[in-house]
Formats: sequence, C-alpha cells, structure tokens
Amino acid sequence: MLKKYLLTPGPTAVPEQVLLDMAVPMIHHRTPAFAEIFASCREGLKKVFKTEEDVLILLGSGTAAMDAAVSNTVNPGDKVLVINGGKFGERWVKICKAYGADVHTVDVPWGRSVNPADVKDFLGKNPDTKAVFVQGSETSTTVYHPVKELAAVTADMPETLLVVDGITSVGVHDTRMDEWGVDILLTGSQKAFMLPPGLAFIALSKKAWTAAEKSSQSKFYLDLKTERKNQAKNTTAWTAGVSLVIGLKTVLGMMEAEGLENVFKRHALNAEATRAAAKALGMRLLAEDYPSDAATGCFLPEGVDGKAFVKYLRDKCGVALAGGQDKLEGKILRISHLGYHDAFDTITAISAIEMGLRKFGADVKLGSGVSAAQEILMRAMAER
Ligand SMILES: Cc1ncc(COP(=O)(O)O)c(C=O)c1O
Repeated sequence: MLKKYLLTPGPTAVPEQVLLDMAVPMIHHRTPAFAEIFASCREGLKKVFKTEEDVLILLGSGTAAMDAAVSNTVNPGDKVLVINGGKFGERWVKICKAYGADVHTVDVPWGRSVNPADVKDFLGKNPDTKAVFVQGSETSTTVYHPVKELAAVTADMPETLLVVDGITSVGVHDTRMDEWGVDILLTGSQKAFMLPPGLAFIALSKKAWTAAEKSSQSKFYLDLKTERKNQAKNTTAWTAGVSLVIGLKTVLGMMEAEGLENVFKRHALNAEATRAAAKALGMRLLAEDYPSDAATGCFLPEGVDGKAFVKYLRDKCGVALAGGQDKLEGKILRISHLGYHDAFDTITAISAIEMGLRKFGADVKLGSGVSAAQEILMRAMAER
C-alpha cells in the first residue's frame, strides 16, 4: 500500500465531512431546498471576501472567473495594465489580449513582488487605464503581491479598476475587499476552499458594476449581470454545480467555526515553518521579498533533477508536491499550505523532501528540516 498525501498548491485535499456531504443523492437546482443552501453560501462567501457586495458562484475553474472579470468590464481597445511576474500574470495578459484590450505590463522578475510605485508611475502617465490586473498570490513563483497598497493607488481613480486574482490568496491572506477598495476579487474552489475543482467565486465593487453596465464586449455564459439577477433570487442562470455548492456550505461552516483570522494564522504558521525547514536544509527560497502563505517555493540543490525528484516523492513516498513551471521547471519545489492543511501535513512534506534529498545525493542531515519546522509548529499546539 502507498498512502497518498496531496500537498500541491491546488487541487488540495478535501475534508472527509465535505466528501460525505457531497455524496448525498442529487437534488434539483430549482427547488427551495437548493435555494436555502445557495443563500447560506452567498452569505458565507461575503464574510470570506470581506464585502457587502454579491459574491457570484460560477461553474468553472478559477480561470472562468478571470475570463468573466475581463469580458464583463474591458471593452475592445481599452488600455489595461497587467502585473506580470509569473505564469498567472501571463494568463491575465493572454485573456486581456483575447478580448482585444490594449495590454501594457509591469514586468516583475520571477520571485519578486511588484513595487506599487511602478504601478502608480504608470497610472500617473496613463490616467485613461481601464483596469489593473494582478495576482494576490502568484502561485507559480509563490510570491504575494501587496494588494492593499495597490488598492490605495487605484482607489482615487474613478475609472480605473483593480482586479485581483485571489485564487491562492482568498482564504489564505486577509483580503478586505471593501475596506481596501479592491474592485474585482475572484477565487476558485480547489485551493483554500478545500473543495474539488469546479466552482469559481467573483465579487465586483460598485465601480466595477458601473463598468459592467457599460460593457460592449461579447459574452454569453459568463455574463455577470445575468448571474447577478438570478443569484439575488438564490438561483443560478444556468444549471448549478449542485454537489459542489452543497460541499461549499460545509466548507464555509468549517471556516466560520475555526474563525477566519485563525484560518489566516494557520496558513501563515505552516508557511513560516516550511520556510524555516527549507533554509535549514540549505534550500534557497524563491520568493525574495514577500513570500505567499499559500505555498513555499524553494530551489533544489544544483544537479538534482527536479522532475525526477517530484516523481520520486509522488511514486515512492506517496507525497504529491509541485515542481516548477516554465523557466523554473526542474529547478524548484512548491509545497502547499492551502486549505485542509495542518502541522503534520507540513511535517510530512518536509520529511519526504529530506528523504528525497538523501536519495538524490544531497548532503543533508535527516531530521534537520523537520526539527526547524517543529520549533515553529509547536506554537500552534500551545495555543490550542
Ligand atoms: C494564482 C492562480 N491564478 C489562476 C489559476 C488558474 O486557476 P484554474 O486552474 O482553477 O483555472 C491558478 C491555478 O493554480 C492560480 O494559482
């Protein structure tokens, strides 16, 4: 037997109770029973997004919400700015181009966070910019971009939206949509929300809804105005992802019971412990200035084939971690802290990495990473 541990930055492990709740016999989505579940999810999502606006529940992966953010607010020819510091920043560029926007970028070296002054500088010179697109957490480089500071830049610009892909930052890092002035915040189900892939969530500020009202862009399935009208009545425009929504209700209840601030703390603690372990094992961190609490990226020792390393951990140890993408392929490891993840998931990841390092010939003292992590993780036990 090989027991399996899913420790990738999405999809993430689904709690047993959520799996059980989703296994109930199917119900129809146009029924009072479903409407009641849906209403409860809408309320719960507002708390996680820290907004009074509607949080729409879409059927699709996170990219569906990214697509909707662009197609509902950006018209062909509109000038937009993308913070491009990784694979998902590149995705914003591709989506915006697909919808005919005039795309400009602030290029951020992989592993670095954007400097809000660079965004301010661009917007000062280009006040006609329709929207700024950013990742809260750029999962490919395990970097956090300073959302609050970016929102402070766009908040005073009546026609410029700040659009945040929070796919690995909502439910991980405190993100105060209304208080900070984020205009569009979106995420997906398979990360901090502890669900299978398949749902995406998106909220628009009043400023963003005004842009959506004026939209001339072509769209159909992901027309957010149509969704908003339906979801206000606790139904969806098209067939809802019934089982996932049932699971979402359980997940939101779990988050509420833990306390949202404790959810953030748990992610931060596991991230801190993993960073300490990586350093103790002599592995350089990828995120140079502002590491994300969703996942930790670290460089493998010179000469270790990262692809073979990830395969060894998955196939021989049962521990699934992620490698690097694109120019980081084969060079780094990415260890998730997302969602249904606690201290002993972190310990499992680190001890497997130690064994992998030994197997691949690195000079590593077994247990040195684990003990560095334990010193930090014991703080969680003390607080229980
Ligand atoms: C920051 C970020 N944006 C976008 C995506 C794409 O989301 P999906 O694969 O759910 O479409 C991901 C997925 O890992 C992500 O981490």
